[in-house]
Amino acid sequence: LRVAILISGSGSNMEALVRSMTGDHPARPVLVVSNVPGAGGLDRAARLGVPTATVDHRAFDSRAAFETALQDILTKARPDLICLAGFMRILTPTFVKRWPGQILNIHPSLLPKYPGLHTHARALEAGDTEHGATVHEVTPVLDDGPILGQIRLPILGSDTPETLAKRLLPLEHDLYARVLRRVAAGDRTRLDLSPEAKPR
Ligand code: GRF
Repeated sequence: LRVAILISGSGSNMEALVRSMTGDHPARPVLVVSNVPGAGGLDRAARLGVPTATVDHRAFDSRAAFETALQDILTKARPDLICLAGFMRILTPTFVKRWPGQILNIHPSLLPKYPGLHTHARALEAGDTEHGATVHEVTPVLDDGPILGQIRLPILGSDTPETLAKRLLPLEHDLYARVLRRVAAGDRTRLDLSPEAKPR
């Protein structure tokens, strides 16, 4: 299977996915696209030997024009799956409908709680005792598609949004790589992980 990964920033989730696609894994990374020129993830991808492209959303005078450029690049790459990994643009229903069931996203909250931004701060403000990340299918409604996996972690009394994000990131990497492998093998049953119970 061919996997394209969309990024906007450091690309640590992208790197985790690329590093997981080896050996008998049924998928291989074919392209990493950033909407931000010079994003750190582009260097990571190049070092990992994955072709990269940049589609700078600021270079287009409309969301539709940006998505047309993105669509052209993706059509050429022929991905079977598109993984959003720290991708910070909202994709319109028009775009999403072109890739039915083929777009996955990782979101740093236990959806359906805290769709949108600033999830760590919101979980802290709400006094939650646990937080986590969710991998879901992307549908026309933001952060709303079928959940493919979640990983949970306890919130500590001393946590700040930064310490929470920092502790969650490696767990995101683990979750996303495991979910991708399952989906690539045709298994879309939900995976629930918690770091305590070391998953088999
Ligand atoms: C991560 O917290 C991810 O959950 C969110 O973007 C952040 C940065 O991800 N979507 P990455 O290091 O660019 O993969």
